[in-house]
Formats: sequence, C-alpha cells, structure tokens
Amino acid sequence: MDTATNTKITVIPTGAALAADVVGVDLSQPIPPEIYAQIRKAWNDHLVLRFRGQQLDDPQFLNFARLFGELDKAPIHAGKDVVNHHPEITVMSNIKVNGKSIGNLGHYEAVWHTDMSYNDLCPIGSALYAIEVPPVGGNTGFANMYRAYDTLPAELKREVMGKTCRHDSSRNSAGELRKGFKETTDPREAPGAIHPIIRTHPETRRNALFLGRRQSAYIIGLPLNESEDLLNRLWAHATQKEFEWYQVWKVGDLILWDNRSAMHRRDSFDPESRRLMHRTQIKGDKPFFDAATLVA
Ligand code: OGA
Ligand code: MN
Repeated sequence: MDTATNTKITVIPTGAALAADVVGVDLSQPIPPEIYAQIRKAWNDHLVLRFRGQQLDDPQFLNFARLFGELDKAPIHAGKDVVNHHPEITVMSNIKVNGKSIGNLGHYEAVWHTDMSYNDLCPIGSALYAIEVPPVGGNTGFANMYRAYDTLPAELKREVMGKTCRHDSSRNSAGELRKGFKETTDPREAPGAIHPIIRTHPETRRNALFLGRRQSAYIIGLPLNESEDLLNRLWAHATQKEFEWYQVWKVGDLILWDNRSAMHRRDSFDPESRRLMHRTQIKGDKPFFDAATLVA
C-alpha cells in the first residue's frame, strides 16, 4: 500500500460470473471521493466486492458502509436476544455464551435468497465482515441475476414479463419461522411484499431476475400449480453453477454485495467450530421494472 493511504486502488475480477477483489485500500482510514467513485463503479460492474486483510472496529466498519447510503437497523431475528451496542450492526454467528446464541443464522445452510425481499423496500446491499471463521465450511455463494435474466430462454422471458411475485416474509433463509409469524402451507396465503419478477437496477439500468426466496413464493394471478411450475423453472435456470462464485472466508475479509442484482446463500459448517461476522445493510429502495429498457 502507498504510504499515503487510499490514493490508488486496483480492482481484480475473480474471473467467475461476478465478484472482484479491491486491493490497495485500508477501510479503517478515510476514503477520498475519487476512490469512493471507483469503488462504487466496481460495485456496479462486479456486484460483489471483496476487501481482504482489513482490521476494523465497529465504528470504522459503519463509516465505510455509510459511504454507500443510510444504514438500516438490524432486522427482526428468529427468536434470539442479540445484545449489540450498534443498532446498525447485526451479529451473524453460531457462537453461544452461557447457552445463548450471540448471533443469527447459526451453523445451518442458508438457501439462495435476496435479503429482506419480503419488504416493500429491500436493502440495496449488505456488508459482511469476518472476525472469526471456521477452518472448513460456511462459505458464502453469490449468483449473478443479470446473467440469469440475460440468458433466460425467450419463452420463459415472455412468460414472466409483466408478472409479479409475492415474497414470503414468515421464514428466514435458514427456514426458521420469524418471531410473531404463523405457519402457512399454502403459498397463496403467505404474507409478504409483491415485486416484479424482472427488475431494473436504478443505477446500471440493467434488468435482473428477482426471485427472493423459493419457499412459499407465489406468482400473482396464476393458479397455484402454474405458479409452482413457473417458479421451479425460473429457479432451475437462476441457480446454475455458471452464474455463481463462492467466497471462502479469511479473517479480515469484508464483502459488500449488491442485493438488487445478486442472490446469495451459505454452506453449513461444523457447529463445534466458531464463525463470527459483523453485518450491516444499506437502506432499501422499491424494486421496479422500467419497460423503456426493452426498447433501448
Ligand atoms: C446475510 C447472509 C450469509 C453468511 O448476512 O444476509 O445471508 O455467509 N449471510 O453469513
Ligand atoms: Mn442474507
């Protein structure tokens, strides 16, 4: 790194369908506007950015994340009492202290999802910072939903054009029922926000497939069996290996993802090992589809 910090960055794409390393930046130090502009462009180009070897306390982590927009308060947890001094930080961890979980999501697999797409406003992105990582497992996968849209077979594209989907709000990505929600078995009765299946990214103006979560999703206006069939075909298309990239965590990694054009999932890991991440998310916008993108 230069002796004067944060004067030059290098963006190194992973070579997979998405994600790039940003090298030469110390996120604990101020980021000048021209460097921020380069990071923002790289984020739009690559959807997921990784900054390795960082050493951040919570205020430094929050200062960096705030460059991208106003931060959300931590989301509703699945029945855990998480103590945290910074309301904008969520602890993601399987660690227990005196038998109580200190964080969210445990050691389970988290299925493919978009964060909080069951709300009308969905976070534009999230940042996850690794403090402790298990020796194996707990990798985080990301999938490029621009690619999923761009490669949709013409017939499938015609079928979903103009359609909306309801995103179930009752369960989290580990399948746990959220506090205060009732069990539903019929997707037509699940609670949650309704969004276009094809969404236009407000900055890049590119279209992305917007699926949220598979469980209890429902395509508005279709008979249940047709909705299930169409969703199964969309998910089979969207979760192809060629759209993915996996983050294998090291302590000091900070990953920033675009929640409008990428989905993510997490592998399970040995519950006896420890994983501790701090997480924050950038306040949401309302997903929309701009038909003008089709004639451009
Ligand atoms: C999240 C999430 C995955 C992980 O923070 O939204 O899905 O790897 N985390 O912890
Ligand atoms: Mn998530």
